[in-house]
Amino acid sequence: MTTTEPSGASDAGTPTPLLSVRDLDVRYGAARALSGISFDVRAGEVITVLGANGAGKSSLARALSGLIPSVGGTFAIDGHDLTGRAPHVIRKAGIIHLPEGRGVFPALSVIDNLRMAVSEIEGRPQRRDAIERACELFPVLGQRRRQRAGLLSGGEQQMLSLARALATSPKLIIADEMSLGLAPRMVDVVFDSLAKAQQAGVSVLMIEQFVHRALGFADSCLILERGTQAWSGPANAAAGEVAARYLGSDSSEVA
Ligand SMILES: Nc1ncnc2c1ncn2[C@@H]1O[C@H](COP(=O)(O)OP(=O)(O)OP(=O)(O)O)[C@@H](O)[C@H]1O
Ligand SMILES: [Mg+2]
Repeated sequence: MTTTEPSGASDAGTPTPLLSVRDLDVRYGAARALSGISFDVRAGEVITVLGANGAGKSSLARALSGLIPSVGGTFAIDGHDLTGRAPHVIRKAGIIHLPEGRGVFPALSVIDNLRMAVSEIEGRPQRRDAIERACELFPVLGQRRRQRAGLLSGGEQQMLSLARALATSPKLIIADEMSLGLAPRMVDVVFDSLAKAQQAGVSVLMIEQFVHRALGFADSCLILERGTQAWSGPANAAAGEVAARYLGSDSSEVA
């Protein structure tokens, strides 16, 4: 991750970043949620966004998926400006947002959840292939394809949520607190699933309560403090910053 390079710049040997965010400002009415946020994410990179409750992490996720408008700044994928675009346009450009909570339809079967996810892919064989790839990546889902999603464990529901996202061949997955409320073994399932996404070449922007696990998994880190960018840099250099900046005052980490 770099914070200084202008969007779309490509010096020799420095490819255009996958995601490029510049001076992003977000407000809820008069209340400022984010101010002056700038960072890049390379293709295949995992970035973790950390910060205390209310720091603006979910607001960043919502702004980058078009759910809330930004009042200033820009963001782009592969150099294509997506600022102010509708959520479906942003999805089509390759940013998939997994919001807080479980992103599955509990009353539908696993396979119907996957069918819904791929409904925008053109061509029946292509849709079938996308579902088969998801079931191969996550064999548990393949084995339980006829089961109602609501009967899966919490970790498996998050796995299904991620499988639904991956079935659409995204470039960047924004995962907002996927491990929230899960038992430790299920948190492992979530991290293993995210590792599969990364191995498939997808970039991940991960918002996580398990700070040290997130830093162990991510390449880079962005720390938000009351809506501003307090620090950004390599994940392996972030532990001290996290301790100084917010774990000391407002720790929500349990592991
Ligand atoms: N819909 C909304 N309307 C008004 N203010 C909001 C809204 N959603 C969030 N906020 C405010 O914006 C700020 C950032 O909230 P946000 O949800 O982005 O924080 P967060 O870092 O995701 O927190 P958490 O760790 O609790 O999930 C907070 O002050 C919050 O109260
Ligand atoms: Mg949040």
